[in-house]
Amino acid sequence: MNQVKRALVIGGAGGMGAAGVKSLVKAGWQVTIADLSEPDVDLGSAAFFKTDVSSDADLRAAVEGSVKILGGLDAVWNNAGVCLLGNAETMKVEDFDKSYLVNVRANAILARLVVPHLRTAGGGSILFTASGAGVFIAPGVMPYGVSKAALVAMTRHLALEYGKCGIRVNALCPGWIDTKFNTPSWELFGGRETFLEKVPASIPLGRMGTVEEMGDFVRFILSPEASFMTGQALTMDGGESLRAGATR
Ligand SMILES: NC(=O)c1ccc[n+]([C@@H]2O[C@H](COP(=O)([O-])OP(=O)(O)OC[C@H]3O[C@@H](n4cnc5c(N)ncnc54)[C@H](O)[C@@H]3O)[C@@H](O)[C@H]2O)c1
Repeated sequence: MNQVKRALVIGGAGGMGAAGVKSLVKAGWQVTIADLSEPDVDLGSAAFFKTDVSSDADLRAAVEGSVKILGGLDAVWNNAGVCLLGNAETMKVEDFDKSYLVNVRANAILARLVVPHLRTAGGGSILFTASGAGVFIAPGVMPYGVSKAALVAMTRHLALEYGKCGIRVNALCPGWIDTKFNTPSWELFGGRETFLEKVPASIPLGRMGTVEEMGDFVRFILSPEASFMTGQALTMDGGESLRAGATR
């Protein structure tokens, strides 16, 4: 008989994270959520941990609390991130530092905390949300793009290091997904309506992705169905990267 799988989803209260939690719960997983704020609706999770990923202590409490409540962990997904913009001259230096803290360092600390538990479980899956901007170069997003590229590199290091323990590590690299995370980006186009008039036309599939599409993909990546996939930057962008830079 298959054992019930257990996951911690960080940044799981909203957007893609919440959709991933829903998809996992629907498939019978036991899930805990860590986030800055509680979900607006009941997602069926076993517990919520108020967490800022830039705090090592918060991350530790979420991981150790989840292990205690679920009896162990088989998968961890960190979807929390920050998007700060600019080029070498226009960016704020503190934004560059914050991008590193939230998008890179927090994931390194998280891996350090969860690897021993996944090893105890006989293996498992770690997923970080990186970005298409971490794989393909776009103008005006240096703090964000550089930090997400570093996260993709860290994904590969971890996958190489811990494959022998049965631990798979992958990076999700979304294109435009319809969440509130993009509100500042829409403003750069003059608002959401103008964005929708201009951008989807240059995406081969002609639209933004939905959180449900991402949630179901994440459930697949975390599950044993994806048991031979590790160290990958998994792009989900409607084909936008086929003409990288065209919309950004
Ligand atoms: N939406 C997109 O188009 C897109 C594209 C590429 C990459 N991403 C990445 O996806 C992630 C954002 O996901 P989303 O689009 O579903 O956004 P979202 O804003 O809808 O959800 C993000 C969730 O993370 C939580 N969160 C934010 N900062 C946190 C922190 N410091 N500690 C703990 N929780 C925190 C938020 O409260 C929220 O519940 C980021 O890592 C971002 O870089 C998004």
